[in-house]
Order: sequence, then structure tokens, then C-alpha cells
Amino acid sequence: MAYIELKEVTYTYPLMKEPALKNISCSLELGKFYGVIGENAGGKTTFCNLLRGLIPHFYNGKLVGDMTINGEDIRKIDVDVLSTKMGYIFQNPFTQISGVRKTVFEEIALGLENLGVPKARMIEKVIEVAKLLKIEELLQNDPNRLSGGQRQRVAFASIIAMDSDIFVIDEPTSQLDPEGTERIFEIIHMLKEQGKTIILVEHKVDLIAEYADEVLVFQKGELLKKGDARTVLSDLELLEHGTMLPQAVILERELRLNGIVLPRVPVTTEECIDLLQKGEAGYESN
Ligand SMILES: Nc1ncnc2c1ncn2[C@@H]1O[C@H](COP(=O)(O)OP(=O)(O)OP(=O)(O)O)[C@@H](O)[C@H]1O
Ligand SMILES: [Mg+2]
Repeated sequence: MAYIELKEVTYTYPLMKEPALKNISCSLELGKFYGVIGENAGGKTTFCNLLRGLIPHFYNGKLVGDMTINGEDIRKIDVDVLSTKMGYIFQNPFTQISGVRKTVFEEIALGLENLGVPKARMIEKVIEVAKLLKIEELLQNDPNRLSGGQRQRVAFASIIAMDSDIFVIDEPTSQLDPEGTERIFEIIHMLKEQGKTIILVEHKVDLIAEYADEVLVFQKGELLKKGDARTVLSDLELLEHGTMLPQAVILERELRLNGIVLPRVPVTTEECIDLLQKGEAGYESN
């Protein structure tokens, strides 16, 4: 059943002429992993702001159309309540930290405190999550003196500590090095295993291919495509719209142009290797 439902939603930021999102209709279900891709300035972050209720509650501007979360009108929703169910990881790790707490421990505990969780339980929970995300050694550090990768892990910890069901994650690794990126993807992998609902904006489309159930493609504020990940990610037409496709999809096209035909289009590198190893490639002479 649809948990989040948008019907012909158009949103324009204050003082802007052109809408950042145009006529978006879609629904999102609980327990699924959604990959969000598309060219720069396509509207991906704006879409996340909307899911998280920051539009219209934090950003003003003009919102037209209908949107509900769990049947509740987004305009009437209490964003504080929403924030306990739906965690948000921002694109820029440096906007992530509240800045009001002296230690990482207190930073992670902030959400639990707001929920009124008793102190003993809170301490237990923070330590448990810190262990899970391998950030125990950071707990007494100043949150304002962390690296980008550490900040992102602390941000995940805060949300996981609150037992959020839904994670809206906006390009969490765009400013991280490969090691920092891998550690974040370990966390995302873990959340997927736990069956959490995940909406992940990510340019690294090979990662989306590995994890996503469905993919949404934004272009110039419009939802160009939404569907099953395999179908969307193997659509070569997307290349003409400034969207990257997985390496395996590009390789399959090259092989096919050279007379080597795989029985299906692989979307991950593992799948591609598997098809080739099993000798499932056919050969066409041209
Ligand atoms: N706070 C804001 N005020 C005014 N316009 C904005 C604001 N944030 C984004 N925009 C505009 O809205 C459009 C969509 O931007 P958005 O940030 O949602 O795109 P994006 O797909 O996340 O891009 P990127 O891949 O660069 O992160 C752009 O034209 C952008 O300039
Ligand atoms: Mg963005």
C-alpha cells in the first residue's frame, strides 16, 4: 500500500519563476528501496525536502497539488513527529550536525532526548548504535571537529538511534573519499537488510543498481521515469537525458554491437560476469 502519495505536485521556491518540481505524481511504499537519479538541478534534493516535510514547513514558496504521508495531508503534518519516523541525511555533511552539542554522544542522544526517552535507556541506545556503526571511538569528540565521513556516520547514528523506519538519504557520499564512501554504503546495506524504507539520491548509479527495488529519474523538475530498477537502469534512452547508466549496461551494449549477445541485460557487474562465465553469451556474425 502507498505510504507516500503525490498527485500533480508542483513546487516553486520563494522568489523563483520556474518551479523546481513540476507536476509530480507518484507513490512510495514502505519497505522498499528507491534510488533517485538524474542530472544536476533536476529536482532530486527538492523532492527529498518535500518527502521530509521541509517543504512546505521550512521552505515557503508555492506548493500546488496533493500530497499525503500515511494518509495525512503534508500541509497539516507535524514535522517534529514526522522527523521521528523519517530521518534525513543531507547532501552536505557540514550542515548535518546540530552545532548545539559538545560531544558526539550528546549529538546522537539529541533525538532520543526530544522523544523523552529515559536517561538509562538513552545511554544504552547510543552505545549500541555507536558499536553498530563502529564510531565508539568518536563518542567523546567535538561534533564540530569531525571529518565529512565521520559526520555522515554520526548523522546515520542519530537516525538509527531513534528507530526511524524511513531514511531519506541525499547523496551521502558526494563529498567523501572512497573509504568514507564504502563505510557509508556498509551502513546503507545494513539498513536494506533490516527491511527499512530507503530513498537514496546517488550519482553512483552502480550502487543504485546493486540495492534499489525501484528507480526514479528526475530531469528539469519532472519525473522522467519511475519503475522497477532493472527496467529503468537498462533503458539506453536515459543516456540522452544526461543520466549515467550502470557499467554493466554500457558493456552489454558494446558487446552486442560487436556481435556478442547476452540473454538479458545485466545491471550489476557481478551479474555480467556471471552471464559470461556460464557461457550464456550468443554470437552473431554481421
Ligand atoms: N533553496 C532554494 N531556493 C531557490 N531555488 C532553489 C533552492 N534549492 C534548489 N533550487 C533550484 O531548484 C532546482 C532543483 O534543484 P535541486 O537542488 O532540487 O536539484 P538536484 O537534482 O538535487 O541537483 P544536484 O544533483 O546538483 O544536487 C534548481 O534549479 C535549483 O537552482
Ligand atoms: Mg541535490
